[in-house]
Amino acid sequence: MCGIVAYIGPSDALPVLLDGLRRLEYRGYDSAGLALLNPGGIEVRKAVGRIANLATEIEKFPIRGQAGISHTRWATHGAVTRDNAHPHADQSGKLHLVHNGVIENYQSLREQLQERGHIFHSQTDTEVLAHLVGEAFDRSTSRDGAALIEALRQALRQVIGTYGISVIHAEVPGLIVGARRGSPLVLGIGKHEHFLASDVSAIVAHTREVVYLNDYEIVAIQAEGFEISTVSGTGADFQVSKVEFTAESVDKGQFPHYMLKEIHEQPNSVRDAMRGRLSIEEATAKLGGLNMTNAELRAVDRVILTGCGTALHSALVGEYLIESLSHIPVECEFASEFRYRNIPLDRDTLVFVISQSGETADTLAALRESQRKGHRTLGICNNVASTIARESDGGVYMHAGPEIGVAATKSFTSQLTIFALLGLLLGRIRHLSHSDGRDIIAEMEKLPDLVARTLELETQVAAIAKKYARANNFLFMGRQAHYPVALEGALKLKEISYISASGYPSAELKHGVIALVTEETPSVFIAPQDAVFEKNLSNIEEVKARKGPVIAIGTEGDTSLRKVCDEVILIPDAPVYLSPILSVIPLQMLAYHIANELGCDVDKPRNLAKSVTVE
Ligand code: AGP
Ligand code: GLU
Repeated sequence: MCGIVAYIGPSDALPVLLDGLRRLEYRGYDSAGLALLNPGGIEVRKAVGRIANLATEIEKFPIRGQAGISHTRWATHGAVTRDNAHPHADQSGKLHLVHNGVIENYQSLREQLQERGHIFHSQTDTEVLAHLVGEAFDRSTSRDGAALIEALRQALRQVIGTYGISVIHAEVPGLIVGARRGSPLVLGIGKHEHFLASDVSAIVAHTREVVYLNDYEIVAIQAEGFEISTVSGTGADFQVSKVEFTAESVDKGQFPHYMLKEIHEQPNSVRDAMRGRLSIEEATAKLGGLNMTNAELRAVDRVILTGCGTALHSALVGEYLIESLSHIPVECEFASEFRYRNIPLDRDTLVFVISQSGETADTLAALRESQRKGHRTLGICNNVASTIARESDGGVYMHAGPEIGVAATKSFTSQLTIFALLGLLLGRIRHLSHSDGRDIIAEMEKLPDLVARTLELETQVAAIAKKYARANNFLFMGRQAHYPVALEGALKLKEISYISASGYPSAELKHGVIALVTEETPSVFIAPQDAVFEKNLSNIEEVKARKGPVIAIGTEGDTSLRKVCDEVILIPDAPVYLSPILSVIPLQMLAYHIANELGCDVDKPRNLAKSVTVE
């Protein structure tokens, strides 16, 4: 699930690899390691914990080389120890391999290898793969690059599971081989140098010319060239792409954390999600990437939205937005359940998979299952070159720019903006009039400014965060489209501050949740001035009657909330199909400032990975 960076060329590989690993730190990891190839052979350094620990280890025991592979590990098999950190060597000790993903049949392969005399030094599934490749290479009569590639093919044909890998061998200097299945790997093309990485942000400081590998492809890089083939042994077609963003856009800039930077980028990311997609003349949204004619869109009689975590919360808001604007029934499903629940889907059901990274294993599995059943399946992704973006039948890009903070923020509001666009498009080919469409567009155009105004609440939110940061439990409540926003507020707080938090529809309070209300348990109510404001107010009263502190998110100009609530945060007024984009922002800031107050590592929360490429 974590990071790979490999380099071959005229420069010293060490700084390239360490810098690349640091740029992948945001993805979450627990240990790191690297192997450098030099005329004396291959030398390995590993450390548990942060990259800084690996750097300290290398300062104590320096190594050099002009080719190398490196890794940040997010443990799936075996504890977080130095021995389990990658790279892993084969039986001969000459081959070294780093791996992202999971080898599902590692146990039986390991037993077979042990019967053949192999000795293992770690508990990982990865070490089995290193031994398999090494064994196949040692069986070969030639000791060259072609033999190493062939050995990799033979080994990969035996494994079940997912992998993004990079391999070096002391007897084949001047070559690094890589392969992928289910775990991303990208080739970077430089001048007299080449790179492999699990994420383009690791190498964008060196080159913006890249090839995104497909599943079952093998790549071999040398300083002067590269070759791409497949696990089955055929050649592979590839396309060189230009990375859209620069190294600067993956820097924190003036902000102390990526998460805060990304929260503050939302006026722009929301604008970018709409850019070029609003047609005033036709009073509708233009989403050419859907690859569907208006006649095809008109035939859609049901929409399914699926994703994980924050993407699922956005889908739940999307359900309200699309239904209210287009009157088409929408259902949401956890991507992890989609495949196993076997939902009955009709011919005219349109499925959307939602994923910031475009690499989430459960969401990818949902996409493939939906396509296997013959359904047109569209993606809403941020990462343009991701597997989901490439495999879906069309879709809408978020254009939010790289999201580095593990806690998703700007991708959520971009997704909501896209759902509003979808609702407008689907509504306009049904019941919405030209003037309705024009009104919606006018409201949408105001959105970036409203987001900017909401961000001005930060000082107030930070003061509230300071006051309540020591609470052990938070409740988040809202109605209609603000109910999933409550879920998202609770998720943000859990993820980065480790405080227990849960979200509910406000009316659920009296059905059990109220038992949790105490003087020490803050309740956050999203209660804007809408059709259910009075209902929310009654629920707030119920909490106050039991002395529970209440933090309310209301609409500018509201005077009733102040009379009952302990804290009131007032956001700009917006129509129901846009107001969740505003109401989530104070919740993002609340989570951020509470986590900061508690001294938590906001961008790299414990146990979490930015891109979850295992099921
Ligand atoms: C969000 O803060 C989380 N880190 C997580 O729930 C995330 O949204 C989920 O893993 C899905 O990721 P994706 O959008 O990249 O598919
Ligand atoms: N399954 C491997 C391990 O546990 C790789 C984990 C990763 O993707 O970082 O070591």
